[in-house]
Amino acid sequence: MSLTSVVTGSASGIGAAVRRQLEAAGHGVIGVDLHDAEVIGNLATAEGRRAALAAVLDRCGGRLDAVALCAGLGTTFEPATTIAQVNYHGVIDLLDGLLPALRRGEHPAAVVVSSVASTQLPWEKNPIGEALAAGDDARVAAVLEGAGDMRGNLAYAGSKNALTVAVRERAKAWGAAGVRLNTVAPGATQTPLLEAGLNDPRYGQAIRDFIPPIGRRAAPEEIAAAVGFLLSTAASYVHGAQLVVDGGIDAVSRPTSF
Ligand SMILES: NC(=O)c1ccc[n+]([C@@H]2O[C@H](COP(=O)([O-])OP(=O)(O)OC[C@H]3O[C@@H](n4cnc5c(N)ncnc54)[C@H](O)[C@@H]3O)[C@@H](O)[C@H]2O)c1
Repeated sequence: MSLTSVVTGSASGIGAAVRRQLEAAGHGVIGVDLHDAEVIGNLATAEGRRAALAAVLDRCGGRLDAVALCAGLGTTFEPATTIAQVNYHGVIDLLDGLLPALRRGEHPAAVVVSSVASTQLPWEKNPIGEALAAGDDARVAAVLEGAGDMRGNLAYAGSKNALTVAVRERAKAWGAAGVRLNTVAPGATQTPLLEAGLNDPRYGQAIRDFIPPIGRRAAPEEIAAAVGFLLSTAASYVHGAQLVVDGGIDAVSRPTSF
């Protein structure tokens, strides 16, 4: 039987590299993105997410083998509330909505692209974590508003931290359903999202000054390789894990936490 996968954010950067990797492994890929995809959809709104989910389920006939949720917005996007919507709800709504189709797949697995930023604002200090998990958009908006010029950073790190937590919380139910679920946490990766940060006067210099221990930024293909591994049967016992693919950033910033 041929294999079918869903990749969100498939039009650019890491999602496009994941798409190429899955196609090379023989998968038929249903891409979801704002443009240049099989399913054109806006994951920033509840209505857009419902429509994208329905279109994907229609296309795959209710059966999927792999899901890679890569769509996301960086710190520079305005309004910052949209960063939180896409990075958290744009992933979780699809993840939960695609589980029944994955249960019918062959060696099914899903990977969520989080970020090494998810480790830098831990859950205990995440001021938008609980509001995101509760779907309290007004509370998220109020906290971001109060963060002033740091709202983009907070929306990004807070949504990625809440995302990794939400995935880990699903390990029990997804394990029982027979579907493996993991996150990949990339560090600085050469994509349009990173370029937007480099060009932003608020963040550009800090990104330029920060060299990962490995001495360079990642190519999108290096993140896609980790996603491909987690989706493959080579990772058949890896479940509920976060695979950090960051050139050593996490190790140097939090050597005693893992
Ligand atoms: N590039 C990095 O340094 C880096 C580091 C850590 C994590 N990440 C994460 O990797 C993922 C991919 O990022 P990238 O760097 O490849 O960025 P990118 O901008 O190249 O690609 C992101 C894709 O998501 C799509 N997207 C954005 N908003 C959307 C929406 N509302 N609805 C549907 N699709 C939407 C975009 O159209 C784009 O094709 C993101 O989740 C990002 O947070 C990136």
